[in-house]
Amino acid sequence: LRCTYPVSERGGWTSDGLVVEKGNRMRAQQGLKLALVCVSGAAVLWLWVSWSRSLNDPTTLTMKSQPCGNITTGLSRIESVSSLLPKRSPKFKNQECAVPNQVRKLSNKEKHLKSRCVENFKRDHARGAGEFWKGETQYIRHKHHRYLTSQSLVLDIGGNKGEDADAMIQAYHPGIYVILEPISSLFTLLVEKFKSNENVVLYNFGLAAKDSKFYVNVLGHGGDATSVFEGNKGGNCELKVFNTTNFIYRLGVPCLDIDLITINCEGCEFEILETLISSGLISKFRHVQFATHPLLSHLEKPVQRYCEIQERLARTHVIDYQFKFCWETWKRKDIS
Ligand SMILES: *[C@@H]1O[C@H](CO)[C@@H](O)[C@H](O)[C@H]1NC(C)=O
Ligand SMILES: *[C@@H]1O[C@H](CO)[C@@H](O)[C@H](O)[C@H]1NC(C)=O
Repeated sequence: LRCTYPVSERGGWTSDGLVVEKGNRMRAQQGLKLALVCVSGAAVLWLWVSWSRSLNDPTTLTMKSQPCGNITTGLSRIESVSSLLPKRSPKFKNQECAVPNQVRKLSNKEKHLKSRCVENFKRDHARGAGEFWKGETQYIRHKHHRYLTSQSLVLDIGGNKGEDADAMIQAYHPGIYVILEPISSLFTLLVEKFKSNENVVLYNFGLAAKDSKFYVNVLGHGGDATSVFEGNKGGNCELKVFNTTNFIYRLGVPCLDIDLITINCEGCEFEILETLISSGLISKFRHVQFATHPLLSHLEKPVQRYCEIQERLARTHVIDYQFKFCWETWKRKDIS
């Protein structure tokens, strides 16, 4: 889902004005048809009521639910995640395996900058999204990462159909490319797509602040617009997420650095970034790229959170490119 779409622009409904007209014509005819009029009138009313209700309720603005592609594999368990230390080149290993303490309140200056960022949301989001989706600009998310080499380790959170993974793997051939995709139908596609690439590591779950399970309807083309932050719960497709910190530790962090984490996960970016920052683990990521979805209806205070993330990220990283409230990459301060 693009960072620009307001929820209300998705899904299509037509009003039934035609039926009303037909009903009026019938009323002029004989008694037998009168009953029909009443029935169709009731139907129109019912349609109209449910249609207008659906306008206010984002959960009904769903495209048709897709099949889950319900599969159970070992790769949907956190226990299946193994350390990347043995595969990691010495250059990117950390001797001390220590995590610096990050938990520090915002300074007055940071608070000021945060509130400026919140105030300018409308303008900056329109500008950021407008520029990012214009022409070929969006492909900066693939083309920007020239620092990646065959020694690099990339984490791709929200693998989707593998478009980003494909582009980056073809351009830079990173030695280890880890993809997380919680939606089984998409995960199955990814397994097929990358079955002959031994550098690709796939897991069938997502990340969040804590371990959790959701039951959702899989939406969009093959599931690419499924978000648990859009009132889309209560479907029958299981979607698993795990505690971000636990997952990152399992990979071998903080004893190794990660060259790039790229996050495009329909609203889960907020929890992941907040967790990485508050735990101090963020300092183990040399580059951090993420898409922001500030308009999903069930996210709590997305604008405030984005603006706070900006201030906290700026302590350890600098902006490499940015389309505000849309897509951006940050680079760790020690990297020239
Ligand atoms: C998914 O798989 C589980 C276990 O095989 C099964 O119990 C469940 O009914 C399946 N759900 C759907 C929607 O197919
Ligand atoms: C996530 O896991 C870490 C490490 O085990 C733990 O300290 C933290 O409390 C967990 N977070 C939540 C929200 O459960």
